[in-house]
Amino acid sequence: MKALVTGGTGFIGSHLVEALLHRGVQVRCLVRKRSDLSWLEGLPVEMVHGDCHDRVSLAEAVKGVDQVFHLAGVTKAIEEKTYFEVNALGTENLIHACLENNPHLQKFVYLSSQAAAGPCQNGGRKKESDRCEPVSAYGHSKRMAEEFALAHAHEIPLLILRPCAVYGPRDRDIYAFFKLLSKRVKPCLLGGEQHISLCYVQDIIQAILLASETEESNGRIFFLSDGQDYRLDEVGDIFAEAMGVNPLCIRVPEWMIFGIASFSEYISRISGKPPLLNRGKVEEMIQKNWVCDITQARTLLGFRPQYSLSEGAKLTYEWYRKEKWL
Ligand SMILES: NC(=O)c1ccc[n+]([C@@H]2O[C@H](COP(=O)([O-])OP(=O)(O)OC[C@H]3O[C@@H](n4cnc5c(N)ncnc54)[C@H](OP(=O)(O)O)[C@@H]3O)[C@@H](O)[C@H]2O)c1
Repeated sequence: MKALVTGGTGFIGSHLVEALLHRGVQVRCLVRKRSDLSWLEGLPVEMVHGDCHDRVSLAEAVKGVDQVFHLAGVTKAIEEKTYFEVNALGTENLIHACLENNPHLQKFVYLSSQAAAGPCQNGGRKKESDRCEPVSAYGHSKRMAEEFALAHAHEIPLLILRPCAVYGPRDRDIYAFFKLLSKRVKPCLLGGEQHISLCYVQDIIQAILLASETEESNGRIFFLSDGQDYRLDEVGDIFAEAMGVNPLCIRVPEWMIFGIASFSEYISRISGKPPLLNRGKVEEMIQKNWVCDITQARTLLGFRPQYSLSEGAKLTYEWYRKEKWL
């Protein structure tokens, strides 16, 4: 079995590459000339240079592989158009490259995001059949990618996974929260009352592998989480307990977080580096309910999340400590 992984240099992709190699799969990674290859160092993977922006560069990458795992994506950008160029058009480019260069492809797994569906407005858990109402440019671009993919579902055996917020070793987003907690600060937005889904990275990898094996679920979308519903306040407490710290809860009003995001955007335009926090991210953060329903993944893929939040938090914290990130 030979697989192409896009986004293999990133947080989730690098864990997927390791899991595929562990199963004896030959792995090819799409990398860019300026990609940071740290997580792939020493691994027996074939690297092919290309960029989702550039359809021609994708032809060589997709030739001769049995499976494509499309994880490349932009989660932070200086300009909104970048989300659409990479996430939406990049996905369309890769699908076209597969259609034109790999007629025998057995599976195309696209890692979308819960952001494509948007928050749950009715207080319950968002299901795959619910209307998509993304609230950020990132979310819109991921939904557009899903639509491109679904439009080709009759030509290519593809399915779409929609993870919630993912945490674990190598993650740099929820890491910011760990970092604040390590300084004994627990930020409390909107009174910490939002409800969210979370998932440890190894459970996402389990779901991606299951998705690659299923024969019957082509053309479907699956939400992924650890199956629980957490109050944001409670997440801070569980992480703090895993870290052995007793933080002080600092209330952050909405206007302040928008102010910080605008300032970060300003700095990022000067530095040329995408901001960790931008107004789109804040628009997502202030939604009351980001809980998704994983019944479909449980039933059709056989997905069984293995890591509780407190176990995942401990493993993640231990890794941050070992790597001296904390
Ligand atoms: N992390 C989460 O909580 C989460 C939740 C839901 C969905 N997702 C989705 O999961 C995927 C992986 O996320 P992640 O957190 O692992 O992100 P990440 O660590 O930022 O990795 C992103 C990957 O995409 C690659 N990439 C970016 N632009 C590219 C382009 N134009 N052409 C080719 N490759 C490109 C990056 O390559 P370089 O090394 O060259 O930059 C990197 O390998 C994304 O599609 C994201 O939308 C993530």
